[in-house]
Amino acid sequence: MERFSSNYDIEGSLGAADPIRFIRGLWEPLSDDRTVFTMYGRNALYLGMKSISLITPKREILLPSYSCGEEIQAAIEAGFIPRFYRVNFMMEVDPKEIEVLVTEATAAVLATHYLGFPLKRIGEIAALCKKEKIYFIEDCAHCCGGSPEGTPLGSYGDISVFSLKKALGIPHGGALVANNQKISLPATAEPPSSATALDFFLFLGFRNGWIKPGFDIRKMLSDTTTEAAFGALHDKVGGYGLGLSRLAKAMIESADVKSLAIARNDNYKRYLRIFEKAKPNRIKAMFTEIDTDACPLFFPIVVDDSERKHRLLIENKICISQPFWSHWHPACDPAAYPEANELKRRLMVLPVTHRISDTQIMRLIEFVENSDS
Ligand SMILES: Cc1ncc(COP(=O)(O)O)c(C=O)c1O
Repeated sequence: MERFSSNYDIEGSLGAADPIRFIRGLWEPLSDDRTVFTMYGRNALYLGMKSISLITPKREILLPSYSCGEEIQAAIEAGFIPRFYRVNFMMEVDPKEIEVLVTEATAAVLATHYLGFPLKRIGEIAALCKKEKIYFIEDCAHCCGGSPEGTPLGSYGDISVFSLKKALGIPHGGALVANNQKISLPATAEPPSSATALDFFLFLGFRNGWIKPGFDIRKMLSDTTTEAAFGALHDKVGGYGLGLSRLAKAMIESADVKSLAIARNDNYKRYLRIFEKAKPNRIKAMFTEIDTDACPLFFPIVVDDSERKHRLLIENKICISQPFWSHWHPACDPAAYPEANELKRRLMVLPVTHRISDTQIMRLIEFVENSDS
């Protein structure tokens, strides 16, 4: 690995890639000049939070109890003390749950558009933050465009963050949008080829099935990344400070974002029809409706125990689903948030970013429906 990553200068070989043109095909607000492109969504979170920490002495941040963990780690590393608000089993947030936690020390609130579905009460949460004079961070890591009620997702927050890796299916990529002019745009460093090449290698491995589900990514990245459950990737060579690679820019430039968004919606509807027809009892579609212009990242399904089902499915070579966010960040106590805990224990997802055949989905449904427990 050492030889591969240090010998092949993938970034240098793409030296002629146009640094600006790649932005043109992206959705609002990413096409805005208040956008900084980063190597990952977590880099955008950290850099945005750090910029906020420089303009307020307040040190508490309110985060959703249902989180992937990277939001929490970025907040801690940016110098904030995380506190958590309730998220219900339908992944919805009541702004009152946030309001009761606001104190003199509250600097910011983060809210997430889970799985790319617009958070229903996002406008009210943004208004609450404005009223309380606290910064609002809109986590759009799962989003790929979308403008419910005419406001592009990512325009509500003082800052918003995106994970282009997820949105566009590329090896890495993130973005920070600083909608609030008071928040300064952070500088980023160009990622070294060692980091870009490793990510590309992993990307190809997963895409082509050379790497099997459950593979420990951090082990593979050990040339450039220290082992930790959460936090920056490639932290030995720049971590949270890394900007977008030339490789990712070249891939974004050739992406057909509109078609990707349509395919996500179409796949979601097709999976839903399969579930409606099969009417299973032990594996259920979480949301039974989808807006015509919604652009989800995943099709969420509810089972009794996602980790156990996943192991059984893999043993039986049914490798299309994955448990979603089953791990807790140590800063958040599962016992205090039973609904988030239930979500962490029971949710699995099917990707809608690429096509899974009807037959494969039926195999999954039949397997879970007929499994012993
Ligand atoms: C809600 C949310 N925010 C932020 C991130 C960070 O994105 P990335 O994996 O691109 O660092 C993730 C994924 O890890 C996420 O699920």
